[in-house]
Amino acid sequence: MTVNRQSDKPLRGKRILVCGKGGCGKSTMVALMAVVLQQKEYEVLVLDGDASNPEGLVRLLFGLGVEGEPKPLIEFFGGIDVVTCPVDDPSPLTRINDTNPIPQDRIDARKEISPEYYLQNGSMILLQAGKINTYGQGCDGPLEKIVRDFMVKGDAVNLIDMKAGIEHFGRKIPDQMDVLLCVLDCTFESVSIAKRIAEFCQEAEKDFWLILNKIGSGDVKSMLMDKLEKLQDRVIGSILYDEELIKVGLAGSALGECKAMEQVGHLVDRLEQVI
Ligand SMILES: Nc1ncnc2c1ncn2[C@@H]1O[C@H](COP(=O)(O)OP(=O)(O)O)[C@@H](O)[C@H]1O
Ligand SMILES: [Mg+2]
Repeated sequence: MTVNRQSDKPLRGKRILVCGKGGCGKSTMVALMAVVLQQKEYEVLVLDGDASNPEGLVRLLFGLGVEGEPKPLIEFFGGIDVVTCPVDDPSPLTRINDTNPIPQDRIDARKEISPEYYLQNGSMILLQAGKINTYGQGCDGPLEKIVRDFMVKGDAVNLIDMKAGIEHFGRKIPDQMDVLLCVLDCTFESVSIAKRIAEFCQEAEKDFWLILNKIGSGDVKSMLMDKLEKLQDRVIGSILYDEELIKVGLAGSALGECKAMEQVGHLVDRLEQVI
């Protein structure tokens, strides 16, 4: 009997961009999904694409005890002077000493990228595009170019933690994604951002889903759903307000089993069905 590998693991090789307003829970969602996907025996590549979030994903996935952060990918591509801003220069990312742009000739992450660029935990690796380290460093467009064009070979699910807001839509970052997940907390701002993102995704012909996060009660959830109007059928999951996540974040320890993780499990099951 032939086994249909794709239907067995439908998220294999997909590039999933997680976006939404600041503080809505993007990094937490990426970390929870990474753990769940690993438990479902996927290979997972997590890319921290938020230049202003020091150590966030490192702590959530590995805990404070881990030695150092991964070296930023921007250095793999020659640094900020080589990787020019996508707004000024729409050409795709290219390896040093190579003329083939990455999207056309994907990188073999395990073979071509040395271990100093990632942290590994079993079948999951965490990389980061780069951070704003110095005052006056300049536009973070080069880092967004990495988020857009860092394409790898193989079966890993790519989970990309995007910076807050919608600036990356102006830079067509979603063009290289298979699906977008927009996380909403219970705020009017989140609803407005979700509506903007819905319009952009329709224009870009990209699949997108909404995740309601930090839901404290049924009442709040119904109010949020009402505000979403026509977008209600785009909601793929709802995650409760789980104090355990706050504690883990404050303590700096890695994520463990909790109610939110269980709900993210259902969300991932649904995503496997709809993708
Ligand atoms: N479902 C949740 N329940 C309770 N707290 C949450 C939940 N999701 C995220 N948080 C908390 O909200 C804060 C912001 O989350 P974070 O993932 O850093 O947001 P973002 O990456 O969107 O800026 C953190 O303190 C995190 O622990
Ligand atoms: Mg974040």
